[in-house]
Amino acid sequence: MKRNTSLHPSMPIVIGMLVCVMLAACGGSGGGSTGGTTASGCGSPPQLAKKDHYKVGFSQNASNNPWRLAETASIKAEADKRGDTLVYADAANSGDKQVSDVQSMIAQKVDVILLAPITEKALVPAVLQAKTACIPVILIDRDVDHTLAQPNKDYVTFIGSDFVQQGKRVADWLIQNTGGKAKIIELEGTTGASPAINRKKGFDDEIKTASGMVLLASQDGDFNRDTGRKVMATLLQAHPDVTAVYAHNDEMAIGAITALKAAGRHPGKDVIVVSIDGEKDALNAIINGEEGISVQSSPFFGPVSFDTIDKYKAGTKLPDWIVVQDMQFTKDNAPQNLANSF
Ligand code: AHR
Repeated sequence: MKRNTSLHPSMPIVIGMLVCVMLAACGGSGGGSTGGTTASGCGSPPQLAKKDHYKVGFSQNASNNPWRLAETASIKAEADKRGDTLVYADAANSGDKQVSDVQSMIAQKVDVILLAPITEKALVPAVLQAKTACIPVILIDRDVDHTLAQPNKDYVTFIGSDFVQQGKRVADWLIQNTGGKAKIIELEGTTGASPAINRKKGFDDEIKTASGMVLLASQDGDFNRDTGRKVMATLLQAHPDVTAVYAHNDEMAIGAITALKAAGRHPGKDVIVVSIDGEKDALNAIINGEEGISVQSSPFFGPVSFDTIDKYKAGTKLPDWIVVQDMQFTKDNAPQNLANSF
């Protein structure tokens, strides 16, 4: 996690205490705010008024794959269960649209915003605008750049997987199942997105521990099945000696399997494919012997997101990061987990 170290560590506390004294507004009802107040006096991060039911904004970054659809379904189901009103927007893979989606939620005066930011930087202005408008933001599934916006200050918390660990777990499995010798093509997620940055870091750092693991090429496939297929087809021509493909998500892995087959290769036999998410198509590819492992990245954010809203309302001090625990799927457990996949 990156931190802004440009201020003396005691400065935010001193400034926060001064503002508290001047506005006599700290420690009011509702919200787990501990970081002082904004100029508008609603807390930093903004407090959440105590209500039985909320108008909750959910800004989704895209809806073009099963993972995103499963996440949205989980949030909608939980909002319905609790009798909350959901204001939903799909940014269709555009950072600019997602910023305007959040601005629209601010204009509609939602009580709280659940935000799945497309990249680490694009949504920072929207997070800060929500703060200025006294609307607490909870980041889900992807994080923002902590040098630009900080948890327990500019937004409430980040709920999400440990992406570095996901990449490391895939690398460990690959090292074990290749005897520490592989020529690897890496298909990266959307450039600038926190899972792409950290899944790359976790994997690349770990394969360096085995001298026979060689990274031939690493390129952005935008977390997208067809882009993954096209990138794989191109990289395959430049690197016909490839023996393993690491895709940052299952969609790109399935695209890579299609490209490998189209080129006359045999995924699962002459090329091992490994990825992250735990989608139904990946579990089926594992069962068919075409994929080796998919480390889960759970999309089921509904219950934990609304529980976090409840805790924040109650004034509970929340951690900067609520870590989602993930399973992993191989031929040993894919069949029994197929029914619960997405
Ligand atoms: O942010 C989570 C990632 O985003 C998922 O792993 C990926 O499939 C999705 O697009």
